[in-house]
Order: sequence, then C-alpha cells, then structure tokens
Amino acid sequence: METAMETRFGEILSRAQETGRAVGAFTCYDLLGFEAVVRAAESYRAPVIILVSPSSFGAQGGGRLVRAFRAAAKASSVEVLVQLDHAGDERLIERAADCGVEAVMADGSKLPFAENLAFARSVVRSMRPRGVGVEAELGRVEGHEDEAGETLSGATTEPGDAEEFVKQSGVDCLAVAVGNVHGHYSGTPELDWGRLEEVRARISASLSLHGASGLPEADLERAVSLGVAKFNVNTELRMAYFR
Ligand code: 13P
Repeated sequence: METAMETRFGEILSRAQETGRAVGAFTCYDLLGFEAVVRAAESYRAPVIILVSPSSFGAQGGGRLVRAFRAAAKASSVEVLVQLDHAGDERLIERAADCGVEAVMADGSKLPFAENLAFARSVVRSMRPRGVGVEAELGRVEGHEDEAGETLSGATTEPGDAEEFVKQSGVDCLAVAVGNVHGHYSGTPELDWGRLEEVRARISASLSLHGASGLPEADLERAVSLGVAKFNVNTELRMAYFR
C-alpha cells in the first residue's frame, strides 16, 4: 500500500511522538465544549484534536457543526484539527471530508480482520488524495464512545496482526486495545504494557489510546513514554460539562 504523502494528521502525531509527547483528542458536541478545549490547549501552547462523534455528525446540523469547528479552529493560536470519530460508514466519511474534517477514524473493529483491513484500505485510498488522515482500530476497545457506561475490556490487539494491518492499509494511526475501554472503568484499569510495547516496536504508524477518561495520570505518562501519540477523551469532559 502506498503511503507517499503525509497528511497533516499524520504529521502532527509523528511530531508529537518524536518529541516524547502525545496529542489530546477531545469529543465536542457544541462550540461551548470546543471553546473550553481550545482554551486549555492554548494555555499549554499544544496542538489539539477535536473529535466529532458519528452520532452528532449524522444528526441534523452535523455538517454545519463541523464547518463551525473548522472556522473556529482557524481563529485559534494553536493547531486545531477536526476528526470524525468512530465512523463505520464510508458515505458518512465522504460527507465529513466534504465538510472539511482533516482526519477520520475508519472503525471496522467489530468486523473480522480481513474486512476491517479492506474497509481501512478503501478509506485510505479515498481520503489520502484529499489530504485527510485515517485512523483505524484493531482489537476492540469496548464500551460506547458516545455514552458513559461502565465497561469491561474487550479483545486485545495482537502485535503481529497490527504489523500486517498497518503495512497493508497505510493508515496514519492505529487505535490499540490493551485493556483500555470507553466510558467508566469497572475497577482499577490494568493496561497490558508489554503488549503496548510490542505493538509499538512492530508498526510504523502512530498509536492512539482511546478511553483515556479514568486512566491515572501515571498510566497516561507511561503510555506516552512507550510511544502513544494520541489519546481520546470524552467521558471526563462530559462529566465536567454537565457539572
Ligand atoms: P472515554 O469516553 O472513555 O474518554 O473515551 C473516549 C474515546 O475514546 C472517544 O473515541
């Protein structure tokens, strides 16, 4: 698979990893949430990713919401990139690209390996010429990315599969399942550090950690030190928003 041109998404993540950092990606449902996230990023002079969930993009006004985020991003003093999160439908992905997202997550993690790979390859083929970065998921980060239920961890990412998947799909970023879950952790989170290290050693793409809400700061730091370049947060942000 050709991966000639680096997307802005890929470039921001590679730069973060090279400097021992990770980029925070936060789900926003409106401009108030966006404002809070971007102000925080500005206070750290850090780039940031605004995640738009497929349910808010697919709802009425979803296109306008993405365009509003894109316009507001231009008025910020840090790099702000808008990503469609967890999309399993190529038509939704095309529509989001038409509205200006600079990255998409092609989520085929519920599919068998070959189908997940075919889906990710197809999305990379259509998005890369448009400069849109692609993230995929291998293994299964359980729980709903848009709902804050309590969750047990799902199928973990096999390092050998991850290597083959990245080589053949050409994705910029791979979301790994190493004991992380979306929503609230049931009990103390226990990430499989050995597995994370092995995946990192075998793939060239950036790594992302979904379900960062509820992970202790020391775990986040350790994940970043092992090469995770992006972490996704929704639950903690929404709890703060509703408070
Ligand atoms: P949390 O809700 O657990 O923070 O997960 C968010 C996420 O991974 C969005 O993709």
